[in-house]
Amino acid sequence: MSDVKFLAEETAKLDIKGFLDVEIDPTLDLFDEIERLKREKNAIVLAHYYQEPDIQDIADYIGDSLGLAQQAEKTDADIIVFAGVHFMAETAKILNPNKKVLLPDLNAGCSLSDSCPPPLFKAFKEKHPDHIVISYINCSAGIKALSDIICTSSNARQIVESLPLDQKIIFAPDKNLGGYINKVTGRNMLLWNGACMVHEIFSLEKITRLKERHPEAKLIAHPECEEAVLRIADFIGSTTQLLKFSETDEAQSFIVATETGILHQMQKNAPDKTFIAAPPDNACACNDCPHMKLNTLEKLYLCMKYELPEITMEEQLRVAAKRPIDKMLELSRQFGL
Ligand code: 13P
Ligand code: SF4
Repeated sequence: MSDVKFLAEETAKLDIKGFLDVEIDPTLDLFDEIERLKREKNAIVLAHYYQEPDIQDIADYIGDSLGLAQQAEKTDADIIVFAGVHFMAETAKILNPNKKVLLPDLNAGCSLSDSCPPPLFKAFKEKHPDHIVISYINCSAGIKALSDIICTSSNARQIVESLPLDQKIIFAPDKNLGGYINKVTGRNMLLWNGACMVHEIFSLEKITRLKERHPEAKLIAHPECEEAVLRIADFIGSTTQLLKFSETDEAQSFIVATETGILHQMQKNAPDKTFIAAPPDNACACNDCPHMKLNTLEKLYLCMKYELPEITMEEQLRVAAKRPIDKMLELSRQFGL
């Protein structure tokens, strides 16, 4: 079959499946192949900490949502391969209209982003015309376009604190992060009722029992967790902040209340320390994000080889969604983040 015909057939299947389902020669060393494709195509692989260990190890940069957006803004690569979820790759595309942005599996969505559909949010916003909108980056381009400033868990507090005390604010879509920021800043932001399925499912009861069994361990938690878990945490922060804390704090063991992918870097950075994944309220011992974990090394290799699936976006939407992201990046520079 000709390459053109092959690609046309695979692209048609891609529309249905969301990823390339092409057989890979089992003798190939995918690590070598991915490195070769990076060099040949001037491509960069950006990965979030929740990706599987092999993907983290092959990435050019691993980071939290803010770090990934900053890398996407400054890269001179021709192709950005995003090992993360859709809203992250979409953010990279918004910042790079002339670069090719690839996501190994288009099905890698986000429950938090899905909890805030643009038409419903638009109606909500219209009911509060005197409020400005700060949206957590875990949202669609449609929500970004309706926002004044984007934030991440690394800069949300500083962004909110940079606004006048009497400024009325809508915070979307994460009610847990929004509630936490309200608590630490003393604000009363109006919260959209969204949440992350991964961080909401931690069991307070099981974590409490774990703490009793490991009294020396510090509980570190992501602010997407529910208030009850945050209340008993020793440290709260974005994935990068949790990673730094686990490396620099004097404690030797940590109970980690966020997605388990981060444990790979924690263990790498502090091999002598002990990291225990906080248990969810189900039969599992640890907590994986089903969206993040849709990406595999095989899908990553295929998407680099065939340059598919690609993130595309209507230009008017891209321009509208870029404005609040630029604002966040500019404020983060001012804060030294
Ligand atoms: P950060 O890595 O920015 O803390 O975000 C966590 C998360 O849930 C990403 O989906
Ligand atoms: Fe979305 Fe939660 Fe998964 Fe992050 S961990 S991608 S917020 S569902």
